[in-house]
Amino acid sequence: MKVECNLEDVFGVMMSKLPRPGLLVTSIGLDGRPNVMTIGWGLVGTMWGERAFMIAIRPSRHTHKLIEEISDFTVNVPTNGMEETIAYCGKVSGRDYDKFKERKLAISDGKRVKSPIIEDCIAHFECKVLGKSRVLPEMLSDDMQKAFYSAGNFNTLYFGKLLSILKNK
Ligand SMILES: Cc1cc2nc3c(=O)[nH]c(=O)nc-3n(C[C@H](O)[C@H](O)[C@H](O)COP(=O)(O)O)c2cc1C
Repeated sequence: MKVECNLEDVFGVMMSKLPRPGLLVTSIGLDGRPNVMTIGWGLVGTMWGERAFMIAIRPSRHTHKLIEEISDFTVNVPTNGMEETIAYCGKVSGRDYDKFKERKLAISDGKRVKSPIIEDCIAHFECKVLGKSRVLPEMLSDDMQKAFYSAGNFNTLYFGKLLSILKNK
């Protein structure tokens, strides 16, 4: 059973998964098909006066398309033992596969967002996009560009207002 909790209750366990093994972001398209992908980059803090979770999604990801359509997402904290699932969701695209089905991941409706939460995970952040920004090459050193953007594909930074934080009872 999932219950609402404070950020402080789950912040530590969430941060322990970054940057590796990673967290699981869900989204859903206008066609009602949900998707899940792994993230290793993310920040929690305040933005525009609201508690927010910022995720950095490259435009090539299917998730990018879905967040553009629906403007919400959830961030799910996996349990120890879900490493194979995390690696799979970080390699395969929802354009080609139903990752929930392939990895036998149960989902349930988000409480305050359209994107689902992953039942098997231990904590969940439900986020509504407040605003977004783009990583710009001219704002990065040459070293950073070489290290992370040799193929372009500059991340969109989505600032998601934290509408609800859930954990296992
Ligand atoms: C550990 C790990 C962390 C990752 N972090 C990110 C990230 O923060 N942002 C991103 O755009 N892609 C990241 N990826 C890559 C995506 O998870 C991967 O491209 C995924 O297949 C995209 O799925 P989708 O096309 O269904 O959205 C990461 C992959 C792994 C394995």
